[in-house]
Amino acid sequence: MYKGILHSHYLVVTLFLLLYVIKTILLISDKIELFEKFSKKMRIPEMIISALFLITGIYLTTQLSFGGKYDFLFWIKIILVFASIPIAVIGFKKKNKMLAALSLLMITGSFGLAEVYHKRKGIAAESSLATNDAASIYKSNCALCHGDNGKLGASGAKDLSLTTLSNEDIKNIILQGKGAMPAAQVNAEQAQAVAEYVLSNIKGK
Ligand code: HEC
Repeated sequence: MYKGILHSHYLVVTLFLLLYVIKTILLISDKIELFEKFSKKMRIPEMIISALFLITGIYLTTQLSFGGKYDFLFWIKIILVFASIPIAVIGFKKKNKMLAALSLLMITGSFGLAEVYHKRKGIAAESSLATNDAASIYKSNCALCHGDNGKLGASGAKDLSLTTLSNEDIKNIILQGKGAMPAAQVNAEQAQAVAEYVLSNIKGK
C-alpha cells in the first residue's frame, strides 16, 4: 500500500512539474496565446493532478509520522511546495514572468530536497541495519543470562528455546524488561530484529 502510494505520488508530482514547466516556458517566451490555450485545455487534468498530488502527499506524511522522522529538510520542502502554489497561481493569472519563474524554482527546489531527503533516509536506514545485526545484539545483550542457545538460565532467566511468546511479546519484554530481566538498551527496530532472531534461531533448537 505505502509503496504503491509512493510511486503514484512520484508519478503525479512528475506530471505536475511537467505542466508547470510547460506553462512557465510558454509564459516566459511570450507565447501568450499558446499559454492561454494550453492552460485552458489542461484545466481539468491539472485539477485532478493537483488533488492527487495533495492526497498522496498527505497520506505519505501521515505514514512518516509513525516513524517520527520529520526533519528540517522535510519542513523546508513542505513550506516551499505550499508557498510556491499561490505564487504560481498569481504569476500565471497576471502573466507575470518573474513570479512564474520564481515558483517554478521553488517547486523544483523542493523536488530536489525531497530527493536529498530520501537519500539521507536511505543511508540512515542502511547504517542502522548494520548495527541492527540481531545476532551480535543478542550475544552482547542477552547471552549473559540466556546463553548463546537460550538455555543457560543464569539469574533465573527463562529458557528461550522453549518460549511460547509471540514476536510482539518478546519485543516488548526486550524493551521493557520482565521481573529480574532488565530492559535492553536498544531501539524498537533493534528489539524487533532480536525478537525475530530469538524466534527463528533459538526457539525449538
Ligand atoms: C540479567 C539477565 C538477563 C538478561 C541480560 C536478559 N534476560 Fe531475558 N530474562 C531474564 C529473566 C530472569 C527472565 C524471566 C523473567 C520473568 O519471567 O519474570 C527473562 C525472560 C525473558 C523472556 C521471556 C521468556 C518466556 O517465555 O517467558 C524473553 C523472551 C527474554 N527474556 C528475552 C531476552 C532477550 C532477547 C534479551 C536480550 C535483549 C534478554 N532476555 C536479556 C534475564 C535476562
